[in-house]
Amino acid sequence: MKKVWMFGVLAVLATTPVLNSSAADEEKSFVPAVVEASTGAIRVPEGYRLWPTLGTWAHAKTDKALETEGAGVHEYHVVHTQPETIAYYQKTGQFPDGAVLVKELLHAKTMAMTTGPAVGHATTTKGWFVLVRDMKGRYKESKLWGKGWGWSFFNADDSEHAASKNFQVECVPCHIPARQLAPANIVDEDKWIYAFGYPVLQKK
Ligand code: HEC
Repeated sequence: MKKVWMFGVLAVLATTPVLNSSAADEEKSFVPAVVEASTGAIRVPEGYRLWPTLGTWAHAKTDKALETEGAGVHEYHVVHTQPETIAYYQKTGQFPDGAVLVKELLHAKTMAMTTGPAVGHATTTKGWFVLVRDMKGRYKESKLWGKGWGWSFFNADDSEHAASKNFQVECVPCHIPARQLAPANIVDEDKWIYAFGYPVLQKK
């Protein structure tokens, strides 16, 4: 008897929110290709390389590598986002709810080419950093969400499970300089982004 009763309660709990709440339906569709709706777990979106590039950061060789190998690039950080995010930002000067920023870290090789003596090109993936804009304060329990974004890092061998555990410790300190470099009049949460490296976001 007890089992049957329990089943009944569970069935009601399981179906009620979905049937009655349009908010739940809306949350279900919050960037479904990137965020697991119930837990907020983020994964690297498939096909992100087909999204437009926001910008590329080139890391030059320094110290020992520069001494032994000569001038060149040792890593590229290529940042992609959805085309709609760029269009929205160009129009409004801010990132929309559900904006996904994927920063792919790529190893690089430098060689002499017909265009110059030290030309770098990207080779293999080293890992990914992913940010998801959240205007509603979702996933308050998660240590990977807060300050208006979902934050996650992934090693190259697993694009589905974040290797980072706590954005306050692993992400925020390094993004504080972005706030100082951001224009004073933009939306506070957008100041976490190094947007000066993305000319395409500038208003047309
Ligand atoms: C060592 C410092 C450092 C750490 C740690 C760090 N970031 Fe960043 N992040 C940067 C810098 C600097 C840039 C832009 C320049 C670059 O990539 O070289 C950047 C850029 C990004 C971008 C591209 C959008 C933007 O802000 O320009 C994403 C996405 C990103 N970081 C996500 C994360 C996440 C998520 C974490 C934590 C898991 C994290 N970062 C931890 C320093 C850091």
